[in-house]
Amino acid sequence: MKRDLAGPGRGCYPALNPIKSLRQGQRVPTPPRLEVRNLIRRFDGRTVVDDVSLAIEPGQVTCLLGPSGCGKSTTLRMIAGVDMQDQGSIWVDGKLICDTVFRIPPERRAIGLMFQDFALFPHLSVAENVAFGLPKGATRDMRRVEELLDRVSLSGFGPKFPHELSGGEQQRVALARALAPRPRILLMDEPFSGLDERLRDGIRDDTLSLLKEEGTAVLLVTHEPHEAMRMADEIALMRSGRIVQRGAPYNIYNAPVDRAAAGFFSDINILRGEVQGALTRTAFGEFLAPGVPDGTEVEIVIRPQHIKIDFDRAGRGPNPTAEDGTPARATVERARFLGRESLVEFRMSFDNSILRATVPAVFLPRPGTVMWLMIRRDRCFVFPVTTPQAGDSVAR
Ligand SMILES: Nc1ncnc2c1ncn2[C@@H]1O[C@H](COP(=O)(O)OP(=O)(O)O)[C@@H](O)[C@H]1O
Ligand SMILES: [Mg+2]
Repeated sequence: MKRDLAGPGRGCYPALNPIKSLRQGQRVPTPPRLEVRNLIRRFDGRTVVDDVSLAIEPGQVTCLLGPSGCGKSTTLRMIAGVDMQDQGSIWVDGKLICDTVFRIPPERRAIGLMFQDFALFPHLSVAENVAFGLPKGATRDMRRVEELLDRVSLSGFGPKFPHELSGGEQQRVALARALAPRPRILLMDEPFSGLDERLRDGIRDDTLSLLKEEGTAVLLVTHEPHEAMRMADEIALMRSGRIVQRGAPYNIYNAPVDRAAAGFFSDINILRGEVQGALTRTAFGEFLAPGVPDGTEVEIVIRPQHIKIDFDRAGRGPNPTAEDGTPARATVERARFLGRESLVEFRMSFDNSILRATVPAVFLPRPGTVMWLMIRRDRCFVFPVTTPQAGDSVAR
């Protein structure tokens, strides 16, 4: 949210501010469940979280996604209240809970936590673990405990102890424990990373269903794009302390803000070219580069699954089209079957570079086979050149 939208005084959204009266019939905008404004955190003079802003609605799952060390956990720790920002503020339902002057302690924030090492209390039974955050004594709502154990498919597990459970079962107990006090917000830090890969997708889906039923606003931290794509309503892509892009998984994947954002989600192929008259000429034909000044070097980014392949026709490929551009000649260097797809590496005739293409199911052409590759214009991204990155396939 832009600063100028906030009314005078702390926590005053326009609709909540009686000075700015609403016109009759105008819908009252509700503030987000969780809002983080311009958070900054420095350690030893190094800015680790750099002007991070976020807003999450009830029932929405936002994934803070980024490589290890980019500042995700630090952001979460400030929201939880176990670390303190150098600048910025945190708001829940339009009320300030923390800025650099005012601070509600962690235990009064009604924020649930589930961290990577979701350590259950070993000396407490499953039921006692889940009940941990609920009021103690006669008023303790054991029905809520049973309901949650049932919802995570662990009814009957109440009397067991953590060491008697599998990793996946422990994770579900931890989730039930975090949700028992009905937190308005749940912060999850890499909650599935300790689990067996084969179990993860199932547990992710079950967790997501429960979070949606509970209507909790969730901020989930992960370094795994697959996890973010699977769980998130919105992804906030983070790099070096900053949020570089926010959006629905579909949009982030299909309209990455730069080459690194594209490369974070899958392997990419890179084609280089120079812009003249808003166009880049390459062996694959022309690519539009609107608004890019003449002489700028650009990278055309294409994911392996979006390279189009065609057969050789007596030394010629298919005819150029507006959508696919000009086909470029290539020979198969290597083809491997990966289960769901096949990966084919092509050596490009025009510059000897390697481009990688993936094809669904089985496609294993022999090394040396001549084929023609095309790049669909609606499937590639054109960015001004930044520094090269390890593992990229670069063609010119
Ligand atoms: N208490 C601390 N003191 C000094 N540096 C820290 C502290 N906590 C985190 N950092 C540093 O801040 C950076 C971001 O850490 P973190 O937020 O844990 O990253 P992520 O969760 O994205 O992997 C790292 O370089 C880390 O070493
Ligand atoms: Mg972390």
